[in-house]
Amino acid sequence: MSKSRMQNVLVLDFGSQTTQLIARRVREAQVYCEIHPYNISIQEIKAMSPKGIILSGGPSSVYDKDAPMVSRELFDLDIPVLGICYGMQLTTLLLGGRVEKSSRREYGHAKLIIDQPDKIFHGLAQGGIGHQVWMSHGDRVEEIPAGFHVIAHSESCPIAAMAHESRPIYGVQFHPEVAHTEIGMDVLTNFLFKVCSCTPDWTMRSFVSSAVEEIRKKAEGRKVICALSGGVDSTVTALLINRAIGDNLTCIFVNNGLLRKNEAEVVLAFLKQFKLNVRYVDAEDRFLSRLKGVEDPEKKRKIIGTEFIKVFEEEASRIEHVDFLAQGTLYPDVIESVSFKGPSATIKSHHNVGGLPEVMKLELIEPLRELFKDEVRKAAEELGMPYELVNRHPFPGPGLAIRILGEVTRTRLSILREADAIVLEEMKESQWYWKVWQSFAVLLPIRTVGVMGDERTYDHVVAVRVVDSLDAMTADWSKLPYELLGRISNRIINEVKGVNRVCYDISSKPPATIEWE
Ligand code: XMP
Repeated sequence: MSKSRMQNVLVLDFGSQTTQLIARRVREAQVYCEIHPYNISIQEIKAMSPKGIILSGGPSSVYDKDAPMVSRELFDLDIPVLGICYGMQLTTLLLGGRVEKSSRREYGHAKLIIDQPDKIFHGLAQGGIGHQVWMSHGDRVEEIPAGFHVIAHSESCPIAAMAHESRPIYGVQFHPEVAHTEIGMDVLTNFLFKVCSCTPDWTMRSFVSSAVEEIRKKAEGRKVICALSGGVDSTVTALLINRAIGDNLTCIFVNNGLLRKNEAEVVLAFLKQFKLNVRYVDAEDRFLSRLKGVEDPEKKRKIIGTEFIKVFEEEASRIEHVDFLAQGTLYPDVIESVSFKGPSATIKSHHNVGGLPEVMKLELIEPLRELFKDEVRKAAEELGMPYELVNRHPFPGPGLAIRILGEVTRTRLSILREADAIVLEEMKESQWYWKVWQSFAVLLPIRTVGVMGDERTYDHVVAVRVVDSLDAMTADWSKLPYELLGRISNRIINEVKGVNRVCYDISSKPPATIEWE
């Protein structure tokens, strides 16, 4: 999407865990929004001519020695500003008010009583028992700057929201972006539409048409290659480029031998239906022979990542005059690299197409760089992808290799594939599949004693992992009905040769992770 054509709201990041959520809420209101680090220059802000600026919350105190600051000039640009939590405290400090340092935190639900009618509270009841909001702060505003008035309070926070009397500058101590704040979306949309006069023009339909147009401008008459996994990100990337330049896009689908049961067939059938130009590479033998004898999870991941790059490169070198490599990079990856805190520590290395750009020296096309995951799903629907594919559970690049603890062998792969297929069948049959984030089977590297008929068995254990999550950063085990768990267990033990025990994984993330390796 060409930024010059879009209305933009800026979120300046002061390190809050909910900064991305602010941006997502703004986009849900169909207003395009970008996150930038707090220390972006005033010149850069001016160059983007945003319709509004939101200052996020953050863990610091405005009195900290290295407290993140913005220039006071920000408030003289004649652009509406909404300060949230730390953002409100900073606004107060910079405009001459007083913030009280506190060693105690107010954390949790509070009742917000609106004291003054104001644009940002348009349509919301004043007084009364108040509205439920979410608070999470230590310091608080003790004295508002000259020219402001208090527009809401809560029992423990006398200045819970403030507004300038004549200029479009606001501060709220509560967090309008979180779901616990029932009036949060009202406050944000009032700011966007009543204060900033934004128009709701950020829709996936408008995104698709301008993304296609932009790709066409950049790559018409030239060749693009793309690694397709069948996941929603790479598929949407390919569909957009295909719509723009047709057969000049070649998609490469590598079967690494670590896919789920029937995975390759299902994905290829779908891609064919969309008339994508796909090269299918059967690289099962290569991957499995490289993985022979390897038990260490990180080694497995590295081997799979490196081998993938080799296979992809070889295949790509058969296509002449390629100019571009397409990738399904999403917005959270983009902001992570420029974020306030820097990327969070790597816990497991994620190897999909990570090393490709450096190796291949091709120019990149990344049409999803501006999208959050939920927006990619909406774009997928817009492009005509069926519900089942759009809402498929995520599947890791290293595939079943990181769900087989210990060595990956053909026999173990085949046991896991059958068990996994049963989990998925039962999850879909009961409709639970669509309610959870991920569901799969894991093959453990131990055997246990059982009894079948009159015979003693000594067979494998399968763990079933089903989790609820919003973004995979945190997750909880799904509370599936016992009947469903019982059916999954019965079927696996009865139908999958070599398995005599099934366990259900009831660990949350953190401290566990979603995958077992
Ligand atoms: P963890 O196990 O870190 O997984 O809690 C979080 C999410 O990421 C997926 N995952 C991966 N996805 N390549 C991927 O594309 C990988 O190497 C990889 N490892 C984990 C996992 O399935 C879950 O959705």
